[in-house]
Amino acid sequence: MVSSDQLHHPTIKVSHVRGYRADMLYFDDRGQAHLQSDCLLVVGPDPAQLVVCDVVLACGAFSALRPDYPHLDITHYPGKWLAPGFVDLHSHYPQLDVIGSPSPGLLPWLEDYTFPAEAKFVDPTWANSRASFFLDELCRHGVTTSLAFATSHVTSVEALFTNARARGMRILTGKCLQDQHCPDGVRDTTEKSLLDTEMLINRWHGIDRLGYAITPRFVPTSSHAQLAGAGELATQYASVWVQSHVAENHDEIAWVASQHPEARSYLEVYNQYGLLRKRSVYAHCIYLDAQDRDLMAQTGAAAAICPTSNAFLGSGFFDFSAGKSHHMAMGLASDVGGGTSMNVFRTMRAAYETARVDLPKQGRAATTLSPSYLWWLHTAGAAQALDLAGVVGNLQPGCEADFVVINPKATPMLARKAHVCETLDEQLFAMIVLGDDRLIEQTHVALPTMLAD
Ligand code: GUN
Ligand code: ZN
Repeated sequence: MVSSDQLHHPTIKVSHVRGYRADMLYFDDRGQAHLQSDCLLVVGPDPAQLVVCDVVLACGAFSALRPDYPHLDITHYPGKWLAPGFVDLHSHYPQLDVIGSPSPGLLPWLEDYTFPAEAKFVDPTWANSRASFFLDELCRHGVTTSLAFATSHVTSVEALFTNARARGMRILTGKCLQDQHCPDGVRDTTEKSLLDTEMLINRWHGIDRLGYAITPRFVPTSSHAQLAGAGELATQYASVWVQSHVAENHDEIAWVASQHPEARSYLEVYNQYGLLRKRSVYAHCIYLDAQDRDLMAQTGAAAAICPTSNAFLGSGFFDFSAGKSHHMAMGLASDVGGGTSMNVFRTMRAAYETARVDLPKQGRAATTLSPSYLWWLHTAGAAQALDLAGVVGNLQPGCEADFVVINPKATPMLARKAHVCETLDEQLFAMIVLGDDRLIEQTHVALPTMLAD
């Protein structure tokens, strides 16, 4: 429990039951998208008081539900869609200024742009202003849940959690662990990095909607002792998340092989240290083999697919068919600043386009991803990958009330296209291909039950 002097604002107000009326996009248990016309979404405090924020109390046809709520305060959005807030499975909040920095590949990009940018987050004022901007951008793009890297500085974690808490957002982050092979200013020290991680878990994990993620950057920048300590913390604190990178780039993979000749594969290094489990999320997963994919599925570790980053840094292409056939948990991610955009439509479109590429040398045929599946991978599917299925990423009774209001005719092109689309798939495809933040008319973040005013 948090003492009152830790609250960011002094006045406590209790949220109330209210309704939103529009067409509604939701996913069924098989992950299929549906658009139900003229719905009522009723949100308010959880009657069982198990959830710390507003939840969906009811949703369904307006005509059927309205009599159950005769005095409901209803906001009507004619012609608009209510849809689940998006879930971004992997990003780096300190890398917004790094977006669009060209480089021959991942390793020089880290040295030349990323580490210098991250070094600045030792300054709490700097970190605070960037954290605030990042969260504003998430909301502007309709992203309501984000698993994000901070930097190696405790200040960067404090800044993101503090700002997210004031907004009532579901943000998962952690201090980057990197005690070798990175420059002064971002390198931490083994023992202190682990003590700091434990301190931050105790201070922030489970406060309101916040979650801690144990965050070894990637194998090359962590000593054996740091990876072992991270693994011990991951066992001790089973409800925290783990986030890292794996199998993104050929030079990175060769480096890991030289550091860990004992390991069968890059992914196996994380397994040796107890870092593969439910609630662990690995970005990229491009160069996994069948054994690795089985290991992901057996341990419950999830893949964060980063299509704009994979294309921009020339890393490669995620194999959707293999991920699916091995039953890996997976979802979409912006991976800014290797990724080029916080626009969720851009990420879905890049996933679609990169899956269309034939890779005969790797024995891979093109895959056609449906728009419903792409949207699921960025909402309910990503939530499932985070072990938050039924909590975020969908609009069904009991889900936390994070949702967006979409204007399907937000731009002249989309308005024209809306008239020729006959099926939901066609409408979703039009948005994925033509859409940007203008589609997101409003973003509603579930109000904490006891709202700091
Ligand atoms: N691998 C280790 N660090 C990073 C990072 O910041 N971005 C990406 N894309 N890959 C990484
Ligand atoms: Zn990343």
